[in-house]
Amino acid sequence: MNEEKFSIEFNHLTKTFGDHTVLNGLDFNIHEGKITTILGFSGAGKSTLLKHILGIFHPTDGQVKVLGQDLRNLNEKQIREFRTNFGMVFQYAALFDSMTIFENVAFPMREFENLSEEQIKKKVISLLEQVGLEEHAYYKLPSEISGGMRKRVGLARALALKPKVMLYDEPTTGLDPITTHMVDDLIRNTHQGNSDIKMTSVIISHDIAATLRISDYVAFLEKGRVVEHSAVEDFRNSSHPVIRKFIELST
Ligand SMILES: Nc1ncnc2c1ncn2[C@@H]1O[C@H](COP(=O)(O)OP(=O)(O)OP(=O)(O)O)[C@@H](O)[C@H]1O
Ligand SMILES: [Mg+2]
Repeated sequence: MNEEKFSIEFNHLTKTFGDHTVLNGLDFNIHEGKITTILGFSGAGKSTLLKHILGIFHPTDGQVKVLGQDLRNLNEKQIREFRTNFGMVFQYAALFDSMTIFENVAFPMREFENLSEEQIKKKVISLLEQVGLEEHAYYKLPSEISGGMRKRVGLARALALKPKVMLYDEPTTGLDPITTHMVDDLIRNTHQGNSDIKMTSVIISHDIAATLRISDYVAFLEKGRVVEHSAVEDFRNSSHPVIRKFIELST
């Protein structure tokens, strides 16, 4: 039998804020080397789940294991170090406004690696090429390039430390349909381009069309649990009434 490997494991995860239970005994594992999208209505707890992966939140009950590690066993410094395993892409590119594109991408390398200027330059340019950014933009400021280009830069910066796991929180919300398509392709190509390290990609999304186009697995979060987790072709045909409604409302 083929042994399945998981990058992230949620075992009976419960998270409460005061008397508000957001995650309620959730069980769910994320496949290594695959693209998994987490769907759910607004307020379902998707971002809360993501924050457990990063060790920003800790479980009220149950356990989260990330790359085999229970983050509760790490101190603050170790968690900071551990986060270099992740690349985060936010809804708005979240670039440093006063730094050039080049410096934005170089930033994590300067923070966490001990490289010469020459090595940094080589890496930054290789990443900017990988995400398809045009050369004339390298030394511009984020405000001087388009939203689609800023997305590319955000992705390049997230890839700077060659992360094992890429996390995308609503990567295309607020973009026009053509740029959305471009970003979806970029996520897929980035994933495939890093298959040598079995990169795992986790996307949080509302965009059902994009989800069905680029994901390997889809998880649906409702009432604090994952009520469906299946390969994308099965998810499309799910008979779960809430998921059917979600698909119908969004297409
Ligand atoms: N730090 C916090 N303190 C108190 N409540 C919180 C905190 N973070 C999240 N919540 C609550 O958890 C619930 C889920 O929020 P979360 O942001 O995870 O939802 P979401 O699925 O990401 O929604 P959206 O699609 O709107 O981004 C909400 O009711 C929110 O108020
Ligand atoms: Mg959210």
